[in-house]
Amino acid sequence: MKILFLNGPNLNLLGRREPEVYGTTTLANIEKSVRERAKTSKAEIDFRQSNVEGELVGWIQEAKGNFDVIVLNAAAYTHTSIALRDAIAAVGVPTIEIHLSNVQAREEFRHKSLIAPVCCGQITGFGEKSYILAVEAAVYVKETKK
Ligand code: DQA
Repeated sequence: MKILFLNGPNLNLLGRREPEVYGTTTLANIEKSVRERAKTSKAEIDFRQSNVEGELVGWIQEAKGNFDVIVLNAAAYTHTSIALRDAIAAVGVPTIEIHLSNVQAREEFRHKSLIAPVCCGQITGFGEKSYILAVEAAVYVKETKK
């Protein structure tokens, strides 16, 4: 199976960005851990990051027919982007929303996710472990939603 991990704005700064909120691990290290975990599930991983909303939209559109599941940390676009929501709905590739921090325990503007209604579930608040849990969730989604 093939899983597309997409990371939104500012996640390229992980490790030095508000470490008290997001931890000290870099995105490159998270990618490494995801690849390790994916081996045990024989899953193929593509792992990307962009600060540009339109680029993320393009990648979601291209996922159709190329990936079984998308794992999306849309970062701030989670709370603002109708374009990402519409792309997920249009493409129909099962998508799992993830966050490092527990967005429900933070500022009120982070409580609303525009993408949640078109995603199959959310993993939020487990730091880098959210990404590892997402591999297992993606396998489950692929096995149960076909
Ligand atoms: C985040 C939470 C978002 O609210 C925030 O804008 C981010 C990161 C997380 O992984 O905790 O950039 O998606």
